[in-house]
Amino acid sequence: MKGLILSGGKGTRLYPLTYTRAKQLIPVANEPVLFRVIRAIRDAGIADIGIVVGDTEPEIREAVGDGTRWGVTITYIRQSAPAGLAHAVKESLPFIGDDRFVMFLGDNVIQGGISPLIRQFASSDWNSQIVLKQVPNPQQFGVAELNPDGSIKRLVEKPKQPPSDLALVGIYMFDHHVREAVHAIRPSFRGELEITDAIQWLVEQGYAVHPYIHRGWWIDTGKPVDMLTANDHVLEEVTPHIAGHVDEASKVDSRVTVEAGAQIINSVVRGPAIIGENARIVNSYVGPFTSLYHDVVVENSEIEHAIVLEHSKILHVGARIQDSLIGRNAVVTHTERKPRAIQFNLGDYSQIDLV
Ligand code: DAU
Repeated sequence: MKGLILSGGKGTRLYPLTYTRAKQLIPVANEPVLFRVIRAIRDAGIADIGIVVGDTEPEIREAVGDGTRWGVTITYIRQSAPAGLAHAVKESLPFIGDDRFVMFLGDNVIQGGISPLIRQFASSDWNSQIVLKQVPNPQQFGVAELNPDGSIKRLVEKPKQPPSDLALVGIYMFDHHVREAVHAIRPSFRGELEITDAIQWLVEQGYAVHPYIHRGWWIDTGKPVDMLTANDHVLEEVTPHIAGHVDEASKVDSRVTVEAGAQIINSVVRGPAIIGENARIVNSYVGPFTSLYHDVVVENSEIEHAIVLEHSKILHVGARIQDSLIGRNAVVTHTERKPRAIQFNLGDYSQIDLV
């Protein structure tokens, strides 16, 4: 069995962060979402993984490399245009050949433990398996309608009137029949070749498509708030460890990870939280559900329920920062300069909420 990860497309809804970075590389609990997907596929016993890439190919290649780190082989597949998930499959067919494969969307974060499901498909005689999850907002996803016996009646992409609350999670399994399906379908109302339509085609042709209903959490990291929610969940899964330095004046609770080279000085850190490599927390409070990536500095400040990316600095900020997503090399600081005015140097699509 092979693995296919979709990391092309454009993350417009996560602006401004995704102006300068592939959305699949934004970390939750200090691990890029894409790395977590690679691990899930590897843990299912799959060593041959293709990654579909678009404009952000160079940074994805640089971050992921050849897969040695995970003991897998990575093949990069350049998609000619972000023309839909089924289009991505079509352009990956030379890599897939006639093998069975699991396809993961590179921006989906799902509760750990999905790997046995993939192993089960590998040895089954189903032509396809899809993963469904009950959601409150099905119109934003592909939606499945099931028959009373639990089999699939039909699938529809982003319906205005959803026939059920069962969304298609971004994990799909196929055998070689998907080849016919992606060639048979036509572009949707949004001009894309939809994988949902390809699976609907398989159902109509009488192929065995097995629906699995996932009971754990699942986040499609479309918007900044989704990143924070994914971070909340993943932080609860992390087994904490302290590899960095915590001085005697600091209080760090048991659900905190302090990575190598990080320093906590005269500060309080409440978990679940993770402090990245070579970060420096001085005279500060870091509250629950916070991930500070490597080389972040927090001095004389308070931060809670937030993600801060590498090399950013939060210095002498009087108010507590919370529910925030801060990009790379950002500086948030307080000065005593007069007149007392707020000074910004913000990227496009940034959002600041003042109280
Ligand atoms: O997240 C689950 C949903 O994902 C499903 O419920 C929908 O049925 C499915 O169509 C998909 O919807 P989205 O609109 O959320 O897909 P999005 O355009 O965000 O793309 C998902 C991932 O696939 C993302 O990592 C980028 C990548 N991608 C996307 C397109 C359109 C590609 O690699 N190539 C593409 O052409």
